[in-house]
Amino acid sequence: MKKRVAFVWVFRPSWLDQAETVKVGSPLRTYMFAVLSDIHSNLEALTTVLADIEKRGIKTIYCLGDVVGYGPNPRECLDLVIEKTKWCVLGNHDYAVFYEPTNFNYGAEQASFWSREVLESEEEKQRRDRRWSFLGKLPMRQTLKTKLGDNTPTIDFVHASPRRPVNEYIFPDDVYTNPVKVRLLFERVKHICFVGHTHMPGVFLDEPDFYLPGELGNVYPIIEDEKAIINIGSVGQPRDKDNRASYVYVNENKVHFVRLEYDFETTMKKIIAIDQLDDFHAERLRSGR
Ligand SMILES: [Fe+2]
Repeated sequence: MKKRVAFVWVFRPSWLDQAETVKVGSPLRTYMFAVLSDIHSNLEALTTVLADIEKRGIKTIYCLGDVVGYGPNPRECLDLVIEKTKWCVLGNHDYAVFYEPTNFNYGAEQASFWSREVLESEEEKQRRDRRWSFLGKLPMRQTLKTKLGDNTPTIDFVHASPRRPVNEYIFPDDVYTNPVKVRLLFERVKHICFVGHTHMPGVFLDEPDFYLPGELGNVYPIIEDEKAIINIGSVGQPRDKDNRASYVYVNENKVHFVRLEYDFETTMKKIIAIDQLDDFHAERLRSGR
């Protein structure tokens, strides 16, 4: 990714200098929640992330969709998301499995059809119905207005983008190659919008600019009068050349980016053993692409 380092330093936002002061588990803790996205039927990554969330004492989890697609465990991942999350929004792969794949490459399309077969072939009717009902009722957007520290931000949650919530990609390079697009997207954002879809975590500001989590010390503080589109990365198929599972949690006004190693070798073996799943979906778990 192209990054204009000089630009970052000249226009360094004031919150880059703020130190993290709230500790997990401290008496100051108020409302904490975690946000997951793009699990893609990767059970090993999902259970690792859920264990980390539990360890931090976080009780509320939201999901930005793409629970299924690509990976080998659609049933198990759906069951966990149904059980553990407060709500989930619709991702393009959830849409593909429930309705039909749209603009998918061959491998992604085959994975959608295979996932559908696996869900349809569940013998226990109650479980089968519960999963299909969940997929069929996923909303395209959720909005939350809540007090976080001294702020009461309006937070939108979508899978892809604020104007096309299921399918539009917002890439980091867009801030340089298509700044008009980014500005138009920000016209749809009241204050904060969490997205997934590209599997590349980071924070877009309306300047426009993009910051990798590492450039922020892995913490973005939500402040008044600063709009942000926050990509939380992917639990089950990271594509930022870092193969660790990605998610965020919010404590007070701070959005914490978390990366976790998980047993991707097991997931890879499962994918390779299933003929209908392209081996490339296994290889990319190792390389994080
Ligand atoms: Fe995805």
